[in-house]
Amino acid sequence: MAEKIIYDTDPGIDDALGLLLLAASPEIDLLAITVTHGNTSQEKCLNNALKLVELTGITKVPVARGAEEPLVKELSVAEETHGEGGLGYAILPKSAISPCSELAHDLIIRLVRENPGEVTLLCVGPMTNIALAFLKAPDIVSKVRRIVSMGGAIHYPGNVTPQAEYNVFCDPEAFEIVLKSGIDFTLVPLDVTYQCILTTDHLEKITEARSEIRNFIFDSTRFYMEFHEDYQGIKGCAINDPLAAAILLDPTLVKNRDYYLTIELTSPTSKAKTIADHYGLLKSAPNAKVSMEVDVERFMELFINRMNRLQ
Ligand code: RIB
Ligand code: CA
Repeated sequence: MAEKIIYDTDPGIDDALGLLLLAASPEIDLLAITVTHGNTSQEKCLNNALKLVELTGITKVPVARGAEEPLVKELSVAEETHGEGGLGYAILPKSAISPCSELAHDLIIRLVRENPGEVTLLCVGPMTNIALAFLKAPDIVSKVRRIVSMGGAIHYPGNVTPQAEYNVFCDPEAFEIVLKSGIDFTLVPLDVTYQCILTTDHLEKITEARSEIRNFIFDSTRFYMEFHEDYQGIKGCAINDPLAAAILLDPTLVKNRDYYLTIELTSPTSKAKTIADHYGLLKSAPNAKVSMEVDVERFMELFINRMNRLQ
């Protein structure tokens, strides 16, 4: 049976590619898309999500307006990475679809209560919506099947400060609330996502997708590749969020380690750093499965094959 998921996202170029992957994958029963602040403002992310739903034809999937800002810290956006509109150079027509009436955290609460034990929360942005849902309805923590979250950096450097990964940095307090909830938590950190670099050679293999889809992929990733080259000296772009989505399709793509994970919340230089107790020195039971190895070739092949299915 298809895995029921809620995609919590801040589209965002790689978020968008992750949504394309979900739309091309019958293994997934996409119950809802919940939008959060992050790569750009919540409003722009919401409009992008509505446009992407129309582009991919999954128009029956409800899209919910989410948190405009983090729980505690000030809003951070990444328009140098994803562009002023959040989708790089890609221009999509204004969507005819409206967001659903429920707010993101309320939709999460309702769907999880209606499908106890069955819903996976695939989180590829800051964790604000999830934390709000858990704070408002603590009963759902035991009803969520699992969380798969793109975020954090274990041995790999941060991408927003030397120590912190962007999604966690955007709302570290929300991340800690979710991490400490005791939920079945899988983290997909930069350690594996930065091995998954989409290049122009990969793009040349996306020949079968519908032209609007191909144009979107090319125009959005062209901006994203320029960012990676200018800021990080990388030829190509890290497709972080699609890897987290792909793990739902094929868990053998990665090798996970069970870690006791904590997050730094007070240090001025290391705030939002995700810390894995690699040797078990703190004698605390593991609270997260962390993807530390990835089969890059198989993932890229899966990604390209699924993009080519989008007709
Ligand atoms: O650090 C990478 C993450 O931050 C990705 O989810 C990207 O979309 C940004 O939100
Ligand atoms: Ca994202």
